[in-house]
Amino acid sequence: MKFFIDTANLEQIREAQALGVLDGVTTNPSLMAKEGITGKNNILKHYVDICEIVDGDVSAEVISTDFEGMIKEGEELAELHSQIVVKAPMIKDGVKAIKYFTDKGIRTNCTLVFSAGQALLAAKAGATYVSPFIGRLDDISTDGLNLISEIRHIYDNYGFDTQILAASVRHTMHVIDCAKIGADVMTGPLSAIEGLLKHPLTDIGLAKFLADYQKGN
Ligand code: E4P
Repeated sequence: MKFFIDTANLEQIREAQALGVLDGVTTNPSLMAKEGITGKNNILKHYVDICEIVDGDVSAEVISTDFEGMIKEGEELAELHSQIVVKAPMIKDGVKAIKYFTDKGIRTNCTLVFSAGQALLAAKAGATYVSPFIGRLDDISTDGLNLISEIRHIYDNYGFDTQILAASVRHTMHVIDCAKIGADVMTGPLSAIEGLLKHPLTDIGLAKFLADYQKGN
């Protein structure tokens, strides 16, 4: 299972990279704005800065909602760095753009996916990644993990290569449940990754080992 961090914060990206378990980064316009990164040139530079920190894929989202605009933006994004994956929304022109990018060998992440049907379309268009937003489904009392199971089932039925990127992950149980279901990737905040480290028995056990070592010295 790949671990992506869902942020545009360079410090957090560096921290996750230093842990040695990071496989990539996802961003979106809201995450960029949260870091105060605005204006096209600053945003493009920020993507390059992120690529220089991590070894893996970095999703960069198009802002256009029409086919021509998405193609122009996506090609520009893809040329920025070999690690860039073009993120396009699950709308009609987004599906057409994903198909276009797929045919041109440009890797894509189909974002804002909330149903199995949408995920099926993304796979048919050849998306490299499909991003079902599990946290946002949970927010409206709909089981986000159930969507991951449905997509896993459908993709396995037909051997689609599209990787299931569980997005809008909010906490460690989302990560563990996605791993059990067989999501290929999860993207979440640093807290969800570092939260996996924690267990009180580890802390108690370590304190005891260190205390016992001191007794013998
Ligand atoms: C996915 O790529 C999105 O950036 C992200 O996971 C959205 O998560 P949120 O629902 O926590 O904003």
